[in-house]
Amino acid sequence: MSGNTYPSVNDLTLEEKASLTSGGDAWHLQGIESKGIPGYMITDGPHGLRKSLASSTGETDLNDSVPATCFPPAAGLSSSWNPELIHKVGEAMGEECIQEKVAVILGPGVNIKRNPLGGRCFEYWSEDPYLAGHEAVGIVAGVQSKGVGTSLKHFAANNQETDRLRISANISQRALREIYFPAFEYIVKTAQPWTIMCSYNRINGVHSAQNRWLLTDVLRDEWGFKGIVMSDWGADHDRVASLNAGLNLEMPPSYTDDQIVYAARDGRIQPEQLDRMAQGMIDLANKTRAAMSIDGYRFDVDAHDEVAHQAAVESMVLLKNDDAILPVAKDAKIAVIGEFARTPRYQGGGSSHITPTKMTSFLDTLTARGVDAQFAPGFTLDLEPADKALETEAVETAKNADVVLMFLGLPEAAESEGFDRETLDIPAKQIELLEAVAAANKNIAVVLSNGSVVSVAPWAANAKGVLESWLLGQAGGAALADVIFGEASPSGKLAQSVPMSINDDPSMINWPGEEGHVDYGEGVFVGYRYYDTYGKAVDYPFGYGLSYATFELSGIKAEKTGANTARVSVTVANTSDVDAAETVQVYVAPGKAAVSRPRHELKGFRKVFLKGGESAEISLDLDERAFAYWSEKFDDWRVEAGEYGIEVGTSSRDIAGVATVALDGDGKAEPLTEWSTFGEWSCDPVGSKVVSAMYEAGGNGELPKLPDNDMMRMFLNSTPINSMSTIVGEGGKRTAAFMLDEYAKLAK
Ligand code: BGC
Repeated sequence: MSGNTYPSVNDLTLEEKASLTSGGDAWHLQGIESKGIPGYMITDGPHGLRKSLASSTGETDLNDSVPATCFPPAAGLSSSWNPELIHKVGEAMGEECIQEKVAVILGPGVNIKRNPLGGRCFEYWSEDPYLAGHEAVGIVAGVQSKGVGTSLKHFAANNQETDRLRISANISQRALREIYFPAFEYIVKTAQPWTIMCSYNRINGVHSAQNRWLLTDVLRDEWGFKGIVMSDWGADHDRVASLNAGLNLEMPPSYTDDQIVYAARDGRIQPEQLDRMAQGMIDLANKTRAAMSIDGYRFDVDAHDEVAHQAAVESMVLLKNDDAILPVAKDAKIAVIGEFARTPRYQGGGSSHITPTKMTSFLDTLTARGVDAQFAPGFTLDLEPADKALETEAVETAKNADVVLMFLGLPEAAESEGFDRETLDIPAKQIELLEAVAAANKNIAVVLSNGSVVSVAPWAANAKGVLESWLLGQAGGAALADVIFGEASPSGKLAQSVPMSINDDPSMINWPGEEGHVDYGEGVFVGYRYYDTYGKAVDYPFGYGLSYATFELSGIKAEKTGANTARVSVTVANTSDVDAAETVQVYVAPGKAAVSRPRHELKGFRKVFLKGGESAEISLDLDERAFAYWSEKFDDWRVEAGEYGIEVGTSSRDIAGVATVALDGDGKAEPLTEWSTFGEWSCDPVGSKVVSAMYEAGGNGELPKLPDNDMMRMFLNSTPINSMSTIVGEGGKRTAAFMLDEYAKLAK
């Protein structure tokens, strides 16, 4: 090492450079001892640290890791709509990495929840890219503020587990740009993750690790990414092709660095490309060096547990609360039914599995807080059929209670990385138990534990209340007690729509693909973009969530702040005496457009905490991108001139008011030709002048008169001008020639 930095690639031999482009073992970078470059540790992620105990040997035991704070996985945290809170979670994770000498934590994963059956939905953020990016950026910025790196994953389009290592996700450029890329793009541009992990799958036929367009043209050249790209574990199938595509690091190593050396010698890898990839690895070591040099650091276990607790409180979404069944009075006669109350399901399975520092179940918390309740497990957390004795005991326990808290959900075996679910339903035996208990006592509030959406409609009539608690991490028991007994109001909002039936989901027709490919035929119409555009009923819409308080949104205004930008403002009032938070959501509704666009899209949000009776005026800025769509014709973003609705509400279906702005548009226009339709000529700023001149000439008898009934005009609008003779006869050719001439003069 010289001075404060490690050497540059110029100080390394070819073999040394090549060695930096694969790991030392499954959880370490490859160091170069003679040059003083360390082989730092990198490990999972994403909702806390999973430092495998067996890591020094490179083996993986997913369930055996050093204790670390288990924060709510993204399924929960994403419902918080609170970027500042998420930033705090990131900071805490960064501190735990320093203690454990982990230079890079592998997460967050911001892939879109294309279909709620996706096996990793529990660790992904949303069906909406704006929300996913604006939340997960907190993890990246928070961790990195401590001098530790993150690995934004899985770039890109890992939206299912079925055939995940081979499947080709066949996606239009527009859907990639508008749906599958923006969370990555936003985080890269605003927080510069030090590393990115590529996905296993192929995109339009090319494995992500070997996709130069993805890893170099888009990620580095367009978005300005400065960090390194690593492979997902085992996703690099061709060292040379991957390195040429822009992959800096193969993980875990296949011990084939000689392939890189040979390819560099015989010109299949250019020296500059190897230098660039290897230098990236040295830069990473430099960035993490200060934090990795801190010795003896101990993070504050209790303080981090408290962050996990607050995060869990804000992760819950109150779906239903008839007769204000929640909150429950502590001195009520309470029956608690369901094994999840004693054995919480608090995280998902697979590479993200954490060994928590502490663990409190809901029942433990009741005992700790001196709350009296009768408990019956009701069912077992396996996939075995119902146990009649447990059912009978549960019904007996519930009979004379004032209120029954029923803990239902998905057992661990029902969802995990590695496979997709086949149904949205919770196990039949739990629904059966709910029915039996409801026959004995109507005062039921269901508390759900699940990583991805489950159907609620089939059994909701048997419950007055439904609290979706997702997976809450290690402090979930205490957080649940806070919300259930009213010490905190629920404030979570759905980051994913709850459909009536999985068959309503727009991706179902192409799920999970066949013969090695999956066609994303729904294009940009993912989740609420489809449900809201096509007026489909949903059980609970995107952005939805109740509170113990009531709120009113008023004074919604929008003003233009530039040619294609706007500011929207609104007053939020807490009209109750309960302190709580409301999340104001801003959706842009483009109206008529040149391409088919979703009815509206989330482009801003703000969670506002207000004491009972308080109100606040907030404003949010909408940049040009908020109004843009990706044009395949222009191979670029486009903003059309015209009026846009700016909807302000509390879910995608609870819009309190709409303001409009008239934008100038970006002025992008395609040159008109003989193949442009009459309609395209009429819409173009210069073309429309030509059309007026042509009508004038028609009026003077110089050119054939165009038909002036509605049907023929529509016919004409979709006809290229070189084919007008099919409508107006031979003279159409003269009309086209006149138009092209006039255009040539005016366009000069
Ligand atoms: C997962 C990644 C994870 C890696 C290392 C892979 O199977 O897809 O998300 O970071 O393993 O555990």
